[in-house]
Amino acid sequence: MKLVALTLGALITPGFGLLRFPCAQLVIDRLDPLVSPGQIPSPHLHQIVGGSAVNSNRYFKARNGTYKRVPQVPNFGFDGVRGGMTVYYMQDGLYNYQQTSKVTSFQPGFRMFIGNVTARTREDMERYRQVTYTCLETDITRDPQILDFPSKPCRYGIMTALRFPTCWDGKNLDSPDHMAHMAYPEYGTFETGGACPDSHPVRMGQLFYEVNWDTTQFNNLEDWPEDGSQPFVWSFGDNTGYGNHADYVFGWQGNALQRALDQPCYINCNTLKTQSIAAMNACGIDRVVNEDIDGWTEELPGGFVSGM
Ligand SMILES: *[C@@H]1O[C@H](CO)[C@@H](O)[C@H](O)[C@H]1NC(C)=O
Ligand SMILES: *[C@@H]1O[C@H](CO)[C@@H](O)[C@H](O)[C@H]1NC(C)=O
Repeated sequence: MKLVALTLGALITPGFGLLRFPCAQLVIDRLDPLVSPGQIPSPHLHQIVGGSAVNSNRYFKARNGTYKRVPQVPNFGFDGVRGGMTVYYMQDGLYNYQQTSKVTSFQPGFRMFIGNVTARTREDMERYRQVTYTCLETDITRDPQILDFPSKPCRYGIMTALRFPTCWDGKNLDSPDHMAHMAYPEYGTFETGGACPDSHPVRMGQLFYEVNWDTTQFNNLEDWPEDGSQPFVWSFGDNTGYGNHADYVFGWQGNALQRALDQPCYINCNTLKTQSIAAMNACGIDRVVNEDIDGWTEELPGGFVSGM
């Protein structure tokens, strides 16, 4: 698909031995190049960013039973970016100024998936380490990171953080479930220096998405369910939050990512070209599926209802 051949536009900002940049939204549509390639419309609504990252959309369900899409907004420090998410490629686990370990870049043709769209229990969710929600009390709140949708209104919105597995089998660019070729460290996490298992010995950078959801227009408790439950629902009907998932399709040109990962890259990643926010925002594609995604609706795009 043309979509996934686009190169990731990278805006590099000061980091700490890591690459961190916003990726503007390419389109919000019922397309899913990884799980249902070529199927238009895909079963549920997605946000596609940078040509290579896909995540779902989230809705607010008001007390009167109607739904409204929750907008994605830029992260702290990235004002002006159209929606999207923040993408990290971490080179080492220490948030210091030196790169201390070598990591391998993803390769052309590489793709992966994390999460389970049908998961509705904590147990199913816990199979994926570090797929979390944060209730933003300020625009820089980062903790606690929890597995459930926050149960109370969050003053600055809700952040989802998805950290992909970091150990590769070294052979397969993909696998039937888009996951088996990757594994988590044997213990701990990438950030705590956990070693890769023998089955998946190649240590990759930590790919990590942060998505900021501006839930603030939905903070009026009079619109929240009377039984005290939380009102947000994923575009595929999940109101538990455990179905959180994301896709990744490698789209960097040549060895650009490996070069960046080989550099102790902070303040200035001089092996990469920086793109302005305006140029990033100018890159978008037209929606293919013609349906209203922004008004109050009786059901979610694709016919999903909360609690499925
Ligand atoms: C349902 O509630 C929302 C939020 O209060 C409101 O904006 C919307 O107009 C309501 N829709 C109907 C059909 O009452
Ligand atoms: C996903 O969740 C469903 C529903 O609980 C479960 O049956 C299935 O085994 C899970 N799949 C994976 C890959 O964990």
